[in-house]
Amino acid sequence: MEHDFESLISGFIKDNIGISKDFLSIELSNHLKQNLQSLMKQNLMKAAGTGNSDIISHDKAVRSDSIYWLDREHDNEYENEFFDQIDDFIKYLNRSCFAGINSYEFHYSLYEAGSFYKKHIDSFNNNPSRKFSMISYLNADWKEADGGQLMVYQNYNNQKIAPEQGTTVFFKSNELQHEVLVTQQQRMSITGWLKRDN
Ligand code: OGA
Ligand code: NI
Repeated sequence: MEHDFESLISGFIKDNIGISKDFLSIELSNHLKQNLQSLMKQNLMKAAGTGNSDIISHDKAVRSDSIYWLDREHDNEYENEFFDQIDDFIKYLNRSCFAGINSYEFHYSLYEAGSFYKKHIDSFNNNPSRKFSMISYLNADWKEADGGQLMVYQNYNNQKIAPEQGTTVFFKSNELQHEVLVTQQQRMSITGWLKRDN
């Protein structure tokens, strides 16, 4: 397992963004996708806001996805398996990079066709605890024409990453500017943040 962790961390160190093709097993990502689809059917995915919980604005001009938070309290086998893997990754990250991560939060994300998230960074001015962002995509057979890529801005080295099932990205929340380009298809992912709460 440490092998997939290493590709996220070494890519991050070299290019400011780590990309792994096998952080989640195909089995686990299929189960998490089924969870998301069932939340959708039960109408439990809710419009995402921008800003933290104190100052939240549901600005559809900035982002138009909907979300649902994962939680160990749900007692869902696959959410727990996901969290176990995140716990292992954090141990590895803290040991190898002295990152001091001591909490995290993850949500399911759904972008219906026509949805997007304008250029932004992920940590809030009034809440700097988000240190690293991690996103695992759940979409099989994504095509260029489906859009919805993660666009990463780094001066003259912009990069477009397809939200293809099996791909996980890892980057620093307060530094990397990024955007979700308008998607032409339903786009599903697990998105979260590794945090250092003092
Ligand atoms: C976010 C975000 C990117 C993606 O939720 O903050 O930037 O590719 N997501 O889903
Ligand atoms: Ni973001």
